[in-house]
Amino acid sequence: MNKSRIIGTGSYLPKRILTNNELSKLVDTSDKWIIERTGIRQRHIAGEGETTADIAYQSALSALDAADLSIKDIDLIVLATTTPDNTFPSTATKVQAMLGMEHGAAFDIQAVCSGFIYALSVGDNFIKAGQVERVLVIGAETFSRIIDWQDRGTCVLFGDGGGAVILSKEEGGRGILSTHLHSDGRHSDLLYTDGGPSTTQSVGLIRMSGKEVFRHAVVNLASVVDEALIANSCQRSDIDWLVPHQANLRILSNTARKLGLRDDQVVITVQRHANTSAASIPLALDEAVRDGRIQEGHLILMEAMGGGFTWGAALVRW
Ligand code: ACO
Repeated sequence: MNKSRIIGTGSYLPKRILTNNELSKLVDTSDKWIIERTGIRQRHIAGEGETTADIAYQSALSALDAADLSIKDIDLIVLATTTPDNTFPSTATKVQAMLGMEHGAAFDIQAVCSGFIYALSVGDNFIKAGQVERVLVIGAETFSRIIDWQDRGTCVLFGDGGGAVILSKEEGGRGILSTHLHSDGRHSDLLYTDGGPSTTQSVGLIRMSGKEVFRHAVVNLASVVDEALIANSCQRSDIDWLVPHQANLRILSNTARKLGLRDDQVVITVQRHANTSAASIPLALDEAVRDGRIQEGHLILMEAMGGGFTWGAALVRW
């Protein structure tokens, strides 16, 4: 059967950095509280007029460059976002036009913080089915636009950014070994926006029961990473790198501890990027590929959990 392999990674962060100390002037919080509870020290915020499509476009250029390909070589764009430029058309089709792509297809995926794992799974399955040979998978967000800047329980957690990978048909042993997706809509009221086109005719702002989300995250993530390992007859000790969704340092450390991984086997960017939702995994992955931590032959485990709830994992032989 066909397999897909990640042959290039890219990412982009808006220039403006917002520190915890700056946030403490907006709401009743402190650098100490935010670092102790989340590990976050700063986040990037999109510039005025800078949209999710702009961020996705820059991430895509960076991944195409890394793969030494042009947009002509891409058959499909799958873009994960919760903060699209418009209700429609999809941000993916906007990015398609920005890249000058007039062939193929492009669409968005909405699975909140699990969006990148969902998009990767969709791209992988299109290749496995033999329908396409190369897919541009993007995770891009401007969560700063749906934050309630008066709610200290959520406004300290999120940031903006984007990441992308190029998936290519592969016949050897390397590539995506498996992806595992889950959702449970019964918990939609624990993490959501209080608006949308069909309810309030507005976008809405983030509302979250933080403690409940935390509790579900650690259980669901532990279960899906085991599922990925069992599906591939791998042991926890076979993992070289954990590239987790960057929600909160305590959630990532908990998953790493359950897997028996050392701290230096976990790619952590949450302190600098905060939670960039669907962008966080490709941003972390790109960093670890570019600085040489991730090497050919390594076994990489990615996992994420987000609103819905949605959660998932991907196991990759680099
Ligand atoms: N600064 C100072 N105090 C704060 C802040 C803040 N930014 N936010 C909340 N508090 C206060 C609360 O009001 C509360 O005060 P009280 O005791 O007087 O009522 C106190 O701190 C404790 O609040 P809790 O919500 O119980 O704090 P907790 O230890 O649970 O930490 C946090 C909150 C960081 C949100 C945690 O629950 C968490 O990380 N949850 C996971 C949420 C998450 O990551 N969501 C992202 C999307 S989903 C995902 O990506 C997995």
